[in-house]
Amino acid sequence: MCGIVAYTGSKSCQHLLLEGLKRLEYRGYDSAGIATIENGRIRVVKTVGRVANLEDKLEEVGGLRGTIGMCHTRWATHGGVTDPNAHPHTDDRAGICLIHNGIIENYAALKTYLQEKGHTFSSDTDTEVLAMLIGELYDGDLEAAVQAALREVTGAYGIVVMCEREPDTLVAARKGSPLMVGVGDGEFIIASDGSAIVSHTSQAFALEDYQVVKVTPTGFRTSTIHNVPVTPKVQQLEIELEEIELGGFSHFMQKEIFEQPKALANTFRGRIDAKEGKVVLGGVATLAKELIRARRTILLGQGTALHAAMIGEYMLEDLAKIGAVAEYASEFRYRNPIIEEGTVAIAVSQSGETADTLAALLEAKERGALALGVINVVGSTIARETDAGVYLRVGPEIGVASTKAFVGQVAVLTLLALWWARRRQMSADQCAEMLRHLETVPEKIERILAQDAQIRRVTEKYVERENWLFLGRGYNYPTALEGALKLKEISYIHAEGMPAAEMKHGPIALINDGMPAVFIANRGRQYDKVMSNIAEVKARGGHVIAVATEGDTQIAKHAHDVLYIPDIPEALSPMLAVVPLQLMAYHAAVLRGHDVDKPRNLAKSVTVE
Ligand code: M6R
Repeated sequence: MCGIVAYTGSKSCQHLLLEGLKRLEYRGYDSAGIATIENGRIRVVKTVGRVANLEDKLEEVGGLRGTIGMCHTRWATHGGVTDPNAHPHTDDRAGICLIHNGIIENYAALKTYLQEKGHTFSSDTDTEVLAMLIGELYDGDLEAAVQAALREVTGAYGIVVMCEREPDTLVAARKGSPLMVGVGDGEFIIASDGSAIVSHTSQAFALEDYQVVKVTPTGFRTSTIHNVPVTPKVQQLEIELEEIELGGFSHFMQKEIFEQPKALANTFRGRIDAKEGKVVLGGVATLAKELIRARRTILLGQGTALHAAMIGEYMLEDLAKIGAVAEYASEFRYRNPIIEEGTVAIAVSQSGETADTLAALLEAKERGALALGVINVVGSTIARETDAGVYLRVGPEIGVASTKAFVGQVAVLTLLALWWARRRQMSADQCAEMLRHLETVPEKIERILAQDAQIRRVTEKYVERENWLFLGRGYNYPTALEGALKLKEISYIHAEGMPAAEMKHGPIALINDGMPAVFIANRGRQYDKVMSNIAEVKARGGHVIAVATEGDTQIAKHAHDVLYIPDIPEALSPMLAVVPLQLMAYHAAVLRGHDVDKPRNLAKSVTVE
């Protein structure tokens, strides 16, 4: 949830730290802070608000000097959004300075213990407690003090610590919150994701849970919190700079919507053999036997990833004829689920770091399920916990509102369903036909993107309305949920998504004159039924915006506005139908003057419960 960047080397680091922090601002942005060691003393500058506010404050104080430092963007958990609660935090005795991502669950007990020892606190955060604890245990060896403190801690952490008495040393540790260490020439940069590292070095390694790294400009040492040495695998970072830059677009969300055709082409590359009617998924090949024998699948995710999982549920049952259920990971993990033999749990996650999805997957594994991942971030925590999986390959997603990851997730679930279907009952011809259609998706999305100006005009008509409905059936019921989520998270318009048939069971009472109701009304098995639902809304004064299939000459007589998508088999239609909804949400947010990439109260990945 928070962004972490730290540096030790020979360069003056303020500018370098801030540049990295800006790349991580999507991870959390309610406050920001920086600290360096300047002439042997720690200096901290922090403020509520964005990195830009921090830059202003730094200018006021004349900037920070020093060749070692750390900075942080916060998404508040413990303690309100105030200057004292912003990171870095310091201790009151040993000259310790610390930044943290995660939650220290036993902070209250630790705080009482430290208060009894005479420490005084200046914030309401769990993080300050950890800084004090390290200070309390410090006896001339920062690495040892961090290890000892972390042995007392329960909860999740990605931390970086420095100390006035060891003025070129950073110590970092991880449990549950990602941290990467970039290895440069006489310098190291530690960050919560690779995008803050890649402009300095392409060599990096990820810390594992319960690992600690001590870095100085001359080298590093990794160990566990019990001081057992470990050898990390330094690898090439697979991030291109252009993937994390705006490249002429106004917002990352807009860029990522327009990137979808290219992103999906990447997802499909080498995985589709339409001639032979075959799907090639190297990531699950080792478990092919067990998967073919599987009796049931449980798809786990949160937010947008759950909506993709719900489409996966329909596809696995419809195409592969295997029992499937999609669930909120947060509910699954606590409801004492029954896992029968032959169950496969599929975690769907862009970041691969979502706390609830990770916990639910571990719960399913513990109870005997085989664990598969449908993940974007390579080497992320969830990816590493799975027995096998298929990466999305859509590139880094920076916009807080997930877009290209959603179509990537649906695309991978389609491949997975067809992979399974071919090994169960689907003929090569049937599979080949589906694959041929699947290959047309990128080009069909291009055609929808070309209607951007019209989609903006339609959005403009309704943008002042505060309540919207999104309705769909079958495969496009989850698409309706996704359309509503996109609109509410970035434009703050109240929007509800639901199965179109559910409307009559209560929500129809909401419909009043001019209320926008977005129907996904493409050609499919339930088209006529959707048309009846449209009539019901119109009869009560609602304004219908229909997402319909090109060539549907009837729909314009029933809907106030129509956005057309190319024809495609129903199972594949969510990947097209969602695109106009993403663009509507984007335009609504821009028209309302909101910060599209940093919507209020949200952060890109939810690494706490
Ligand atoms: O990284 P994940 O896919 O696991 O994230 C899950 C949700 O937190 C995420 O999809 C969230 O709902 C997005 N803000 C939606 O745009």
